[in-house]
Amino acid sequence: MADRADFAARYGGWGIVAGASQGLGAAYAEELAARGLNLLLIARRGELLRSLASELSMKYGIETKIIVLDLSSADAVEQVAQAVNDLEIGMLVYNAAFSAIGPFLERSLDDHLKEIGTNALTPLKLIHLFAGQMLARGRGGIVLMSSLSAFQGSAYISTYAATKAFNIVLAEGLWEEWRERGVDVLVCVSGAVKTPNYVASEPERTGGLGDRTMNPDQVVHEALNALGKGPYVIPGRMNRMASFVMRHLLPRKSAVKFMGRVLKGMYVKQE
Ligand SMILES: NC(=O)c1ccc[n+]([C@@H]2O[C@H](COP(=O)([O-])OP(=O)(O)OC[C@H]3O[C@@H](n4cnc5c(N)ncnc54)[C@H](OP(=O)(O)O)[C@@H]3O)[C@@H](O)[C@H]2O)c1
Repeated sequence: MADRADFAARYGGWGIVAGASQGLGAAYAEELAARGLNLLLIARRGELLRSLASELSMKYGIETKIIVLDLSSADAVEQVAQAVNDLEIGMLVYNAAFSAIGPFLERSLDDHLKEIGTNALTPLKLIHLFAGQMLARGRGGIVLMSSLSAFQGSAYISTYAATKAFNIVLAEGLWEEWRERGVDVLVCVSGAVKTPNYVASEPERTGGLGDRTMNPDQVVHEALNALGKGPYVIPGRMNRMASFVMRHLLPRKSAVKFMGRVLKGMYVKQE
């Protein structure tokens, strides 16, 4: 881990974790606190945020604030801007996501649009809000969460995977634009992670290439260690190998079909 003082000097004084109440988001909050950032934590469940915030400030001697907010709402970013006021935001982690699992037409249009809002529009707007100040200071970090499902079309989570592909391509472009101006952009392209959301989605089995399900703290640790070293990271050696096979050895059409079979096994109840 980078020295706490160096990390805080580069990405402090305050970090935002959007989607912080549990799982990967709470793990980001914990590791950023351990690395010395004050934290502004966002999610819908205020009780979880409050107890996490007080636990982290006791344990790491940092300042914390919470914003109880639905990041899919149209005015979410205005509400964040108001709550931030004049805090110096040096780090933005966008972790929240909505995933409408199932055959495309069995989910409402509203669900598909909510995926685009939560997973693509809101992170874009937050980056637009905070990156200018980071660039003016010549330092800062932005971390977006994506998924291995975004490297090709992924049946039964098509819109979710498309929003996650948006995050990969957006982060890569911004990494190149800003890497020589002191602002590090990273997309974390994760495989399955044992978060409450993942467990609640009741995957029947993890599908091909073995069970590579990781713990949130492992994923977050690899992601934050990769920040400033390149535009993306795939946490986990087995995930990197599986992704290499899918992207470089299989024809794209075969990768799409393979992913579809895996996801059907996980999420489409068989008669
Ligand atoms: N888990 C996996 O297997 C996996 C795999 C690949 C990629 N990822 C990516 O990793 C990220 C986190 O994954 P996860 O879903 O497993 O979740 P998680 O980190 O366990 O929880 C998601 C967090 O976001 C918050 N959140 C969700 N929707 C929100 C909204 N509309 N407004 C405000 N906060 C919201 C939730 O809190 P509240 O419910 O309290 O609002 C929660 O704190 C996502 O971007 C996901 O795409 C996960």
